[in-house]
Amino acid sequence: MNIQKVMVIGAGQMGSGIAQVCAMAGYDVKLHDLKQEYLDRGFSTITKNLTRQVDKGRMSEDDKAAILGRLTPSLDLQNASDVDLVIEAAVENMDIKTKLFSQLDEIAPQNAILATNTSSLPITEIAAATKRPEKVIGMHFMNPVPVMKLVEIIRGLATADEVYQVIEDMTKTLNKVPVEVNDFPGFVSNRILMPMINEAIYTLYEGVATKEAIDEVMKLGMNHPMGPLTLADFIGLDTCLYIMETLHEGFGDDKYRPCPLLRKYVKAGWLGKKSGRGFYTYEG
Ligand code: CAA
Repeated sequence: MNIQKVMVIGAGQMGSGIAQVCAMAGYDVKLHDLKQEYLDRGFSTITKNLTRQVDKGRMSEDDKAAILGRLTPSLDLQNASDVDLVIEAAVENMDIKTKLFSQLDEIAPQNAILATNTSSLPITEIAAATKRPEKVIGMHFMNPVPVMKLVEIIRGLATADEVYQVIEDMTKTLNKVPVEVNDFPGFVSNRILMPMINEAIYTLYEGVATKEAIDEVMKLGMNHPMGPLTLADFIGLDTCLYIMETLHEGFGDDKYRPCPLLRKYVKAGWLGKKSGRGFYTYEG
């Protein structure tokens, strides 16, 4: 199957990044969201990223214009009626995702592949909301999408081998590295990353060290580009909590219990960088 037209659902941090890398790779991309203001914000982020590439002399103004020309805003899900691939990057909520996939199943062409960028929800359950579970797959991009090389490609229980192969090949055209993973809670990335972040929060909660010290140990001692508490703020504390709850519920194992301090911060609305305050405070 030849992929040319892509719809990305959700113009937030992840969706706009995915739309950008798809358009940069030459695909025609419809970036879909519920409100014009969300689309405006997504397009503004993409434009800013491309302008930075032009300023650094890595991209010409013509290339930037061509990339932006391949991106079309969408406020109507019916626009999925002629695409080859949908990559859903909407909010992490199973009810919303299953509803979306069941609608997309009605709208998208019969041979279109429906992918989700979920960070931890079961692909198999999302696929079960459609009549084409063999064409449903996980494509888990990392944040910030334009920079990070990895895409975890997650096979649902029914995902067809040909579909996996098409998505693996397509991911390579995005200048990303696909890694094959099976459908278990948190896949590989968040099964390992989130318990580490959660443990860093416990370390703070128990008074073992200050937040700065915890981050410094992991940055200088393990060569992590960001300390775990800075990274948690960057990802969003609500997202971290949601993923820990998914692991806790999915495995039924208390080793995944979310730290009470994480719960408290989320309840307070301290969601990290996006809300201006998490473990650290952010200006602007
Ligand atoms: N969008 C686009 N480009 C960005 C960017 C963004 N949001 N943030 C940084 N960049 C680019 C910069 O423009 C810069 O590009 P050049 O080198 O081409 O000039 C490059 O990235 C490096 O940026 P900086 O010099 O400003 O800062 P840095 O060296 O500290 O790198 C970082 C920033 C890439 C974010 C780095 O700190 C890092 O790798 N952090 C860890 C990120 C990580 O772990 N991501 C995974 C999160 S988990 C996840 O996404 C999955 C999930 O389900 C929760």
